[in-house]
Amino acid sequence: MSRLPTHVTLCEVGPRDGLQNEKELVSTAHKLELIERLQAAGVRRLEATSFVSPKWVPQMADAGAVMAGLNAGLRRPEVAVAVLVPNEKGMDAALPLRPDEVVVFTAASEAFARKNINCSIDESIERFGPVIAKAKGAGITVRAALSCCLGCPYEGEVSAAQVERVAAQLAAIGVDHLSVSDTIGVGTPRRVQAALEAALRHFPLHQVSGHYHDTYGQALANVYASLELGVSRFDASVGGLGGCPYAKGATGNVATEELVFLLDGLGIDTGIDLDALVDTAAFISGVLGRPPVSRAARAVLAKRV
Ligand code: HMG
Ligand code: MG
Repeated sequence: MSRLPTHVTLCEVGPRDGLQNEKELVSTAHKLELIERLQAAGVRRLEATSFVSPKWVPQMADAGAVMAGLNAGLRRPEVAVAVLVPNEKGMDAALPLRPDEVVVFTAASEAFARKNINCSIDESIERFGPVIAKAKGAGITVRAALSCCLGCPYEGEVSAAQVERVAAQLAAIGVDHLSVSDTIGVGTPRRVQAALEAALRHFPLHQVSGHYHDTYGQALANVYASLELGVSRFDASVGGLGGCPYAKGATGNVATEELVFLLDGLGIDTGIDLDALVDTAAFISGVLGRPPVSRAARAVLAKRV
C-alpha cells in the first residue's frame, strides 16, 4: 500500500469559486465575515476574490473592496491570501493590495479558454508574461489554475497529453504552482492520476494541487487517488459552494468539511477544525438563503439538534 502524506494543505476557494456563480450579489461585509470565520477555523491558504472584468463576473466586482477590507485589520500573517488575475489589468489592480499569491488561469481545452477568458490557450500564455514579471518583482508567488483537465463542457473528453502540453508552457514561463482542475467534475480516479502525472512531468510534487468539482460525486475519490501519488495540496470550498459561470451545470468544489472529515479519518493533519468549518458553512449558506449542500455539514448539524 502506498504511503499517504501525513499533512495536507487546503486552499479554501469558497470566497472566490464558491461565490462567483451566485446570481444575487453577496455584500462585501458578508464576504469579509466568511473569510474571517475561515481563518478562525484554521484555514491557512485561501482565494479571497478575483480581479476579473465585472461585466464577465459581476459577483467579483468588489475585489478591491474585499482586499482593502482584509488589509484593514482582518488579515492574519499566517494566512496566505491569493487572488485570481486573468491579465495585466487585473494584476495592476491587485498589486497595491498585496496578495501573497496571484492565480492566473487558462485551460487544457481550447474552447473553454475562449469561453472563459476570451482568448486562445497560446494567447493566454502570452498575457501571463507581464503578470508573472510583476509578481516576481514584488515577491508574490504565481499559481496557475488549469481548467478542464479531465473534460470540457464544449469539447468533451480531454486527454492527459493536452494537460501536459499546457503544463509545459506554464512551467516554461515561470509559474510556481499548478492546480490541476476538473472544472465539470467528470474525472474518475485513474484518469485524475494520469492528468496529475502529466502535470508532475513539469512541476515538482509539492507544487501541484488538485481542484476537483464534485458534479458527479467523484471529488473525494479523486482526492484519495491524488494522495496515493503523494499530492498534498487541494482546493476546497466551504459548504461545497461553487461553479464557473462559463461551465454550465458544473456544481461546487469538493466541500472543505467533507475533505477535512476524510483527512481526519485517515489521520492526515490539516490544522482545520471541523466544527468551526461546519459553522462557517451554515453561516454562508444562511446568507445565501438555503441549507448547506454538503453531506458532512448536514450530518454534523443534525447531530447537534
Ligand atoms: P475581454 O472582454 O476580452 O477583455 O475579456 P478586454 O481586454 O477586451 O477588455 C474589455 C473590458 O473589460 C474593458 O472595459 C476592460 O477595461 C475590462 P470597458 O472598456 O469595456 O469598460 N477589463 C477588466 N476589468 C477589470 N479587471 C480586469 C479586466 N480586464 C479587462 N482584469 C477577460 C477578457 C479575461 C477580462 C474576461 O474574459 C474575464 O474577466 N474573464 C474572467 C472569467 C472568470 O472569472 N471565470 C471564473 C474564474 S476561472 C474558474 O472559475 C476556474 C477555476 O476555478 C478552476 C476550474 O475549476 O477549472 C479557477
Ligand atoms: Mg473551479
